[in-house]
Amino acid sequence: MRAVGITRFGGPEVLEIVELPPPLPGPGQVLIRVAAATVNPADTVLRAGRHGPPAAGMAAPYVPGMELAGVIDAVGPGAPWQAGDRVMAIVSPSAPGGGAQAELVVVPGDSVARVPAGISLTAAATLPMNGLTARLALDLLALRPGQTLAVTGAAGAVGGYAIQLAVHAGLDVIADAAPADAELVRGLGAAVVVQRGPQLAAAIREAVPAGVDALLDAAVMGQPVLPAIRDGGQVAAVRPFSGQAKRSITVTLVLVGDYLHAGDKLAGLAGLVAAGVLTLRVAAELPARQAAQAHRLLAAGGVRGRIVLTF
Ligand SMILES: NC(=O)c1ccc[n+]([C@@H]2O[C@H](COP(=O)([O-])OP(=O)(O)OC[C@H]3O[C@@H](n4cnc5c(N)ncnc54)[C@H](OP(=O)(O)O)[C@@H]3O)[C@@H](O)[C@H]2O)c1
Repeated sequence: MRAVGITRFGGPEVLEIVELPPPLPGPGQVLIRVAAATVNPADTVLRAGRHGPPAAGMAAPYVPGMELAGVIDAVGPGAPWQAGDRVMAIVSPSAPGGGAQAELVVVPGDSVARVPAGISLTAAATLPMNGLTARLALDLLALRPGQTLAVTGAAGAVGGYAIQLAVHAGLDVIADAAPADAELVRGLGAAVVVQRGPQLAAAIREAVPAGVDALLDAAVMGQPVLPAIRDGGQVAAVRPFSGQAKRSITVTLVLVGDYLHAGDKLAGLAGLVAAGVLTLRVAAELPARQAAQAHRLLAAGGVRGRIVLTF
C-alpha cells in the first residue's frame, strides 16, 4: 500500500510516496481505507526532524499525519465497528504503524468516530486532531458560562474550533485576526475581534479592562500575551510556553495525545458538526503524491482551513 514517507529529514522535497506492507488490525483495532488525511504544522515538525524519529527505535520511512477519514476495511477482535462504516480518526505518527497519510491505517477502535451523514470524508478529515485539541484546551480551562476567553491564531484550525466550542459553551470570546481575517473570525462567533500582532495584549485589555479569564495561545505567541490575562487567570499553550507567568496566572500545556483514545469526545464533536455548531474548513485537496506542495503551502502561511491529501 502507498503512504507518504520520510526516509531522511529535511525540507518538503524529502516527502515521497513509499510502498509499505498492508497492516492488519489487532484486538480492539480497526483497519481504515483512507480517503483523506490532513496536513498539519506537526507534520512539518516531523519532516524537518526537529524531534528526531516519532518514537524511540522507530525505523524510517516515517509516515506523518494525525487525522484521517475513510471507510473501515476490517475489524480486529472486540472492536465495536463494522466493515463499511464511514469514520474519522485521530492518529499518532509514533504508533507502530505510523501516521495517517497512508492508503490503509490501523488505529485503536476508541480513536474513531462515525462521520455524520451528508459530510464528505474530505471535510471530516479536518476535525479529529484539531477539534480534539480545542476540546481538550477548553476541558482543561474548565471555564464557566459568562467567563471570557481570548484566542490567538483565531483564523487557524485550533483557534477556529476553540472559538466555536467556547461560544457554544456560553463563554464570551475575544479573538485576534489580521484585517483580512476579521470577518472570518467574527463569523466563527468571536464577540470582539482585535488586530493580531505585538500590540495584542494591550488591545485585549482595552476591550476587557479587567483582563480575560483565560487565553488559548494557538498562535504560540508566548510571554507577550500575559498582560491580557487577569490576575489568577489561565493560559492554555499548544507548544511549550516561553516565559514565566506572574500574578498567579497558571499555564497549562495542551497535549492532544491525551485524547488519542477519546473517541467519545470525537463523536461529540461530530455531533456538533451535524448540528451546525462546528464548521469544517478545507483549504485545498491534493493527491497524496503532492504532499511536498502541501507542506510548502502550509509553510508560506495564510492558509485558511486545512490542506487535505487524498488517497
Ligand atoms: N499541543 C498539541 O497537542 C497541539 C495540537 C494541535 C496543534 N498544535 C499546535 O497549535 C498551533 C496551531 O495549530 P493550527 O493547526 O491551528 O495552525 P494553523 O491552522 O496554521 O493556524 C495558526 C494561525 O495562527 C496565525 N499566526 C501565526 N503566527 C501568528 C502571530 N505571531 N500572531 C498572530 N497569529 C499568528 C496563523 O496565521 P498565518 O497563516 O497568517 O501565519 C494562523 O491563522 C501549531 O503550533 C500546532 O503545532 C498543538
